[in-house]
Amino acid sequence: MSLQAALKDARSGKKITEPFFNQHLLIVGQTGSGKTTSALSILDQLQHENQTAIVLDPTGEYAQLPNAVTYKLGENAYLEAGKLSEVALQEVMGIKLPLAMERQLARAINSLKVQRNIAHGHGPLKKINYPADRYQRLLEQLSDWASEYQVTDLPQQLVEEMVVPFDNEHADYCLLGQQYDRQGINRQWGLLTDFRERLASQAFRELFDTVAHPGTSKTELGFVLKMFLNQRASHRTLVVDLSILKRYEQQQGAIISYLLKLILNDRLATNNGTFMPVKLVLDEAHRYLPTGDAQLAKNGIFQVLREGRKVNLQMALTTQSPLDLPARLRSQFGISLIHRLLDQDELASVAPDLAFEDVAKLETGQAFLKQRSIPAKKVLVQAPQWW
Ligand SMILES: Nc1ncnc2c1ncn2[C@@H]1O[C@H](COP(=O)(O)OP(=O)(O)OP(=O)(O)O)[C@@H](O)[C@H]1O
Ligand SMILES: [Mg+2]
Repeated sequence: MSLQAALKDARSGKKITEPFFNQHLLIVGQTGSGKTTSALSILDQLQHENQTAIVLDPTGEYAQLPNAVTYKLGENAYLEAGKLSEVALQEVMGIKLPLAMERQLARAINSLKVQRNIAHGHGPLKKINYPADRYQRLLEQLSDWASEYQVTDLPQQLVEEMVVPFDNEHADYCLLGQQYDRQGINRQWGLLTDFRERLASQAFRELFDTVAHPGTSKTELGFVLKMFLNQRASHRTLVVDLSILKRYEQQQGAIISYLLKLILNDRLATNNGTFMPVKLVLDEAHRYLPTGDAQLAKNGIFQVLREGRKVNLQMALTTQSPLDLPARLRSQFGISLIHRLLDQDELASVAPDLAFEDVAKLETGQAFLKQRSIPAKKVLVQAPQWW
């Protein structure tokens, strides 16, 4: 059997056939040292091994990969905004609401889910004079299948959430409310206006496809990801072309984080114990990571690195500057592919035992393969046959 191997031992010239991408893989090297080509070779090998891989491709460089299914966000794919939680929604909109307002948002989302899936009404759910017990029964019917809502109705629904009883003898506490809490609404008005504007922004509309385009067919990315994760797709490689994010720099980190959380959560929710391995690839990862420690814990890249192992998700990240990756994140990789690096500190951060001179003089397409507790091995990256 002739095996398509991405790597060859530089000394013996033998193909490296033992699996190495069964742990998280870090690919580092200065610009032009061959990281993307290495990732493509590894994907090519995975295809020959009939393994499933999902590439989140913010540059569009992976479109050249043959035998892959490609979905391009903004073109033939969109994200369903009506599935975003109050936290994810704030992330992709680049806002952080005060806690009280965040609760209000969670409530508004539930109201809209009731409205759409159970009450089958249109527009926001009017809460004035609505019997509290009836509403409670509707809420009880909410479940996973009733998880979508009309995101563009949110600003108005937020106003509907701010209702109170009369403050006189006509007060009826069996109703959700009898009048608008005018002071409360006025206090939040600036935030509400901002929220409305962000929902209407071009970035949001393009990424989340909140406007209907009759005649064009787009697929929801969450659905596509599910298909691949559950091996129900006829292809084994999925490329999610996210080059649209170049135009929306503010949102790109949040969207990538969101997609990775969809992937992780789909697996964590499937409680069947055995998972087919799925490999994830993200190029230029340092661009999409937050700097703060608190935000890192909430980031999808970090969560997949930390929790992916137990559900058989392995991720490969490439970066030209390992020092830009937080140390907590760097320690999650069981294996690294180290291309040419010209900075001693960067090398020390990923492979302190390698001699700097050896790494600095690597040619394009050469690298050191380093596994935990095994001495690093110099390798040649075999560009794929189609390449
Ligand atoms: N294994 C290889 N065999 C032959 N040529 C290669 C190999 N790897 C890289 N190259 C050549 O080097 C060029 C740069 O490689 P590549 O784009 O993979 O580098 P990179 O590290 O991803 O760079 P950047 O940081 O700019 O993204 C490629 O266009 C290709 O021509
Ligand atoms: Mg590259």
